[in-house]
Amino acid sequence: MVKIGIVGLGRLGKRHAENLVYRVSGCQVTAACSIVEEELAYAKDVLGVSDTYTDYADMLANADIDAVFLVTSTSLHAEQILAGLAADKHVFCEKPLAINVEDCEKVVSAAAQYNHKIATIGLVRRFDPSYMEAKRLVDAGKIGQPILVRSQTVDLDDFAEFQVPFTATSGGFVHDMWVHDFDLARWFLGSDMTEAYSIGGCYRHKGFEQYNDADNASALCKYANGTNAYFFASRTAQHGHDTRTEIVGTEGILKIGEIPNATRVEIFDRAGARQECVQDFFARFEEAFLIEAQAFVDACNGKEVALCTLEDAMNATKDAVMVTEAYKTGTLVKA
Ligand SMILES: NC(=O)c1ccc[n+]([C@@H]2O[C@H](COP(=O)([O-])OP(=O)(O)OC[C@H]3O[C@@H](n4cnc5c(N)ncnc54)[C@H](O)[C@@H]3O)[C@@H](O)[C@H]2O)c1
Repeated sequence: MVKIGIVGLGRLGKRHAENLVYRVSGCQVTAACSIVEEELAYAKDVLGVSDTYTDYADMLANADIDAVFLVTSTSLHAEQILAGLAADKHVFCEKPLAINVEDCEKVVSAAAQYNHKIATIGLVRRFDPSYMEAKRLVDAGKIGQPILVRSQTVDLDDFAEFQVPFTATSGGFVHDMWVHDFDLARWFLGSDMTEAYSIGGCYRHKGFEQYNDADNASALCKYANGTNAYFFASRTAQHGHDTRTEIVGTEGILKIGEIPNATRVEIFDRAGARQECVQDFFARFEEAFLIEAQAFVDACNGKEVALCTLEDAMNATKDAVMVTEAYKTGTLVKA
């Protein structure tokens, strides 16, 4: 039984906590930490976690905790991972590892001294059964040599205004949304991004302008092995959450999530023939979040499982830094 201290019980933290408490086997959530009193009351009253902290350092001093599960603001990730490892805990941390390469390098090099501990970043799409199957097919050569990835993260417009204040700590849409797509492109293309060009703007939500951020943007990128990728991000979808990826190979094409249908029901009525759409990232990746958390717990319990490494997350941040520069300067940026 891995004893876990969860840190951050906000929008995603509550979802992770509920998975760990009710659905993941081999672990027990014995502690919770948050700077928000209501979140700690939720941990006590709803999750039955009696040991609560407002200070992460105090939680780390608890020798009974084997692992920390960090679902805090992005700007805290690097320092909280380092502190967790230094306190001899296994660490799961939500993406992204950091929004600059220096912090990523600091974590990767420090983590090398703690290689008896599990340290992983939650790049959740790698645990989605459809993406896993696509990876299996690519690795088995079913589409020949992959030459192009087209990947998008598209959020429902209703969440955009809520995202505006997050931009101060999230690194903006590139680090917050595209980091998943960059990780997937590397996973499928097996190469490093070498060139990036990006354009977009604030077409509906002017609040993002103060951060030089976008509500809709595209990027065209080249990879060291001659392959390329096209990325799209939008915060203004009217139909739902619409994450999808296409991998074009020399002998075939794979499409993942091309139609973001919520169920297999087709509705025929006065509005036409249609399907309801998935509304948010959690609904789309609910199963993946569960598989990911179970994989972390299994790894802490000594099982051999594939996890996203700190290096995977650092590489995704490297791409995000390059594309952010391309977006902000409007120029072609080369690595
Ligand atoms: N994998 C995904 O698809 C996905 C989706 C959403 C969010 N995320 C990531 O999850 C992280 C959290 O996002 P969110 O939407 O839940 O944010 P949120 O603002 O709702 O939650 C942040 C949490 O951090 C806690 N916190 C802040 N400072 C703290 C401190 N010093 N000590 C302890 N707790 C502290 C807050 O109390 C809050 O519970 C972000 O890094 C985000 O990038 C990932």
